[in-house]
Amino acid sequence: MTFASSVRLFQTLVMSFHSAIVIETVEEERVRTLINKAINELQMAVFEWSVSQGLTRSQGNSQHRWTNEYAPPGTQKPQALDQTFEPVDALKHIAELPFQAIYWLKDLGPHLKDDDVVRRQLREVIQQFAQNRSTLVITGHSITLPPDIAQDVVYFDLKLPEPDELYRAISEVVRSLKGRISVEIQPDGIDELVQAMRGMTLQQARKVIAFAALDDGKLTADDVKRVLQRKVQVLHEDGLLDYVPPEMNPAQLGGFNGLKQWLQRARVGFGAQAKAFNLPTPRGILIVGIQGCGKSLAAKTIAREWQMPLLKLDAGRLYDKFIGESEKNFRRAVTLAETMSPAILWIDEIEKSMGQSDSDADGGLSRRLFGYFLTWLQEKSGDVFVVATANDLSRIPPELLRKGRFDEIFFVDLPDEAERAAILQIHLVRRKQDPQRFELAALVQATDGFSGAEIEQVIITSLYRAIYEQRPVDTELIINEVKSTVPLSISRREDLHALRIMAQERFVSVK
Ligand SMILES: Nc1ncnc2c1ncn2[C@@H]1O[C@H](COP(=O)(O)OP(=O)(O)OP(=O)(O)O)[C@@H](O)[C@H]1O
Ligand SMILES: [Mg+2]
Repeated sequence: MTFASSVRLFQTLVMSFHSAIVIETVEEERVRTLINKAINELQMAVFEWSVSQGLTRSQGNSQHRWTNEYAPPGTQKPQALDQTFEPVDALKHIAELPFQAIYWLKDLGPHLKDDDVVRRQLREVIQQFAQNRSTLVITGHSITLPPDIAQDVVYFDLKLPEPDELYRAISEVVRSLKGRISVEIQPDGIDELVQAMRGMTLQQARKVIAFAALDDGKLTADDVKRVLQRKVQVLHEDGLLDYVPPEMNPAQLGGFNGLKQWLQRARVGFGAQAKAFNLPTPRGILIVGIQGCGKSLAAKTIAREWQMPLLKLDAGRLYDKFIGESEKNFRRAVTLAETMSPAILWIDEIEKSMGQSDSDADGGLSRRLFGYFLTWLQEKSGDVFVVATANDLSRIPPELLRKGRFDEIFFVDLPDEAERAAILQIHLVRRKQDPQRFELAALVQATDGFSGAEIEQVIITSLYRAIYEQRPVDTELIINEVKSTVPLSISRREDLHALRIMAQERFVSVK
C-alpha cells in the first residue's frame, strides 16, 4: 500500500459516515499529512485538540487555507476556542459547533480508560456525528476503547512509512543540508538506503540520514551500513523485536543436514520464478526438540544462509499489564516484520508466549495471542518466514501442530556421531584450537548422549582448566571433563524419552 492509497481509504471512511476513526501511531506529522491530503477533495474544515493547545481550527493546507476567525487580526498562530483544554469541555464544544468537520483529538486516549464523564460525552458526539459527515479522529501511541464505544469506532491502520515516503524524506534531508554535504551515492544505493530504513518512523529515518551525512560530510553507499546499525538500536529501544542484519550473524550449525536441504529447496519460493508463477512464499517452520541441541542456533542459521535480516520476537516484552495491550504489541511486532520483509521472524520458545497454561491466570491472553498468530500465519502478506522453536510439546496447542499450519515441523534429537564430530570441530575452531591435534573419534565416542550445548560447555571448561594448569588442552583433558559431566540425557532420561516417542512418529527429523 502506498501513502496515496491510505489517503483514499481515509477519505472513504469519512464519506461513508464513520463518526470516529482511531489511528494508533506516534507519527502525528503523518496524520497531519493524511488529513490535509484527504480534505483536498472532501472540502471540510479541520479542528485539532490537545491538552496544551485546546481546541483550535487548523489552518488547512496550501490549497485550502482556512481563515482563522478566532485569531487576532494579523496572527497566523491558531487560537484556542474558549475553555476547551479539558477533554469534556472540548467534546461539548465540538457537539455545538455548526461545521461539518474533521475533529482531530490528540490526547484523548488516556482519558478513555478511567473517566466516565469523558466516555459519556464522547458517545454522544459519536451518535450525533452518525447523522452527518463530521468525523472524530483519535490518535495516540496505543488507544484502548471501552466496549460500548468500540463498536461505533473504526481502527485505521496507518502503516509505517512506505518506500515512496522514505525516498521523499531522504530528498528533503539532502535539500536541507545543501552546501554542507556532498551526495556521492548512486540511484541503486538510494534504493538500498530506503530498504534499510524500512521499519523506522519518518522522524527516525530523517535523523539517521542527517546523522550519516553530516558525520563525514557526505552521503555514500557506505551509509547503508550505518543506517542498518542505527535500525538495530531503534528497534531494540522499541522493545519488541531484536534485529540482527545478515552481515552481523555468525551462526554456525553442525549437522541438521535434512533441515539444511529442506531450506535450500524452500529458498526458491522467494525467487523471481516462483513469483512469476504466483506461488505463495514459504510460511515458516516449527522446530521442536531436546534442550541445547541447536534449535535457536538453527533459527539464526536460516537467516544467515538466506541472507535475510533476523527479527527475534521478545515474548517477555510482549506482555503488558493493560488488557488488550499485549495483543496490540504482538500485532505491532508482526506488522513491523512485514514492513521489513523479506525477513525471518523468529519466535523462540513459542510455548512460553502462546502455549497452554495450567491455569487461566492470564485471563485467556495466551489463547487470544495464539488465535491471532494462527490467523496471521494463514493470511500474512509479504515475505516473512516464521521460525518458531519449542521444548515442551505438551504445552503447544494441538491446532498448531496440525498439517498445513507450518510448512514443516522438525524434530531435533541428540546429535549422532557425525553431528558430534561436526559440533566438536566448530567449537574447537571457535576457541582457536586446531582439531587436527585431537583424537576426534575418541571424543565423539565419549560424548555419546551429549547435546551440542553440553559439548560446547565441555570444551570451554577444558580450556579454563588448561589455562589454570598452564598446559595445552588435549584429548585426555577433554575426556576427563566429559566424564565429570552428567548430561541431560541421563539426568532427565524419562522426559526426553517421552518427548522422543511423541515427536519421532509425527515430525520430520532435522538429520
Ligand atoms: N548442532 C550444533 N552445532 C553447533 N553448535 C551447537 C549445535 N547444537 C548446539 N550447539 C551449541 O549449543 C548452544 C546452545 O544451543 P541452542 O541455544 O541453539 O539450543 P536450543 O535447542 O535452542 O536449546 P534450548 O531448548 O535450551 O533453547 C549453541 O549456542 C551452540 O554453541
Ligand atoms: Mg533455544
